[in-house]
Amino acid sequence: MVSQSPVWFLLYWQSDRTFNGELVTRMAALGAQAISVTVDLPTPGDRRRQFRAGFKIPDSLATPYFNDRNTGVLKVGTTQQRAMPTWADIAWLRSLTTLPLILKGILDPDDAEQAIATGADAIIVSNHGSRNLDTLPATIDALPAIAERVAGRIAIILDGGVRRGTDVLKAIALGASAVMIGRPYVYALATDGADGVAHCVNLLRRDFEMAMALTGRAGIVEIDRSVIW
Ligand SMILES: Cc1cc2nc3c(=O)[nH]c(=O)nc-3n(C[C@H](O)[C@H](O)[C@H](O)COP(=O)(O)O)c2cc1C
Repeated sequence: MVSQSPVWFLLYWQSDRTFNGELVTRMAALGAQAISVTVDLPTPGDRRRQFRAGFKIPDSLATPYFNDRNTGVLKVGTTQQRAMPTWADIAWLRSLTTLPLILKGILDPDDAEQAIATGADAIIVSNHGSRNLDTLPATIDALPAIAERVAGRIAIILDGGVRRGTDVLKAIALGASAVMIGRPYVYALATDGADGVAHCVNLLRRDFEMAMALTGRAGIVEIDRSVIW
């Protein structure tokens, strides 16, 4: 089994600023060890594959946004709009908590710079699993310029398309401190519950350690750009 991991609270910013603050304070009191704010989803994208697959949120959980989507008609309007935090909102959130603050959904070095200026402890280089805006770059391609700009001032985490240990190795080589996975653990969860997720993580770890051994790296700190062909 995977050992107990720290729990982060992942916040989708809500239009009532105070409510966000209350959520964060409440999650901190409940033991959350980091606050991550998703900053790349001002509106959901046109998820056609999801629509074709017949994906539907149960009516009991539906919001106007999901009801609209289930008609199959793409509407860009107030019902689909999510509130997005401004940089001032992020600074305000920063002032509310001493927990690590992580901004998820950074693809532009200028935004990485602003994240640092606003007091973020880490950024997640993410294109939301490429589920939102078609034609965004792969995160592994966006990473080098961001890593160059950040220059070690804060931690960089990468997600999107991490499927093998070699993907982890490449992300670290190009400047990430860590990676996250989305769909792999969801598939594992659907297949075999908690044991499936543990198996998924163990496979990735074994594959990553093998990739390190095969590139002659005894520790993560030894992974640098020279592992890239
Ligand atoms: C079913 C599903 C639900 C997701 N929900 C959220 C979410 O609520 N907030 C968020 O920031 N990202 C969400 N994401 C994006 C993931 O956090 C992550 O950025 C992405 O899945 C990573 O790419 P990968 O699936 O290729 O590993 C979701 C992804 C999937 C597949």
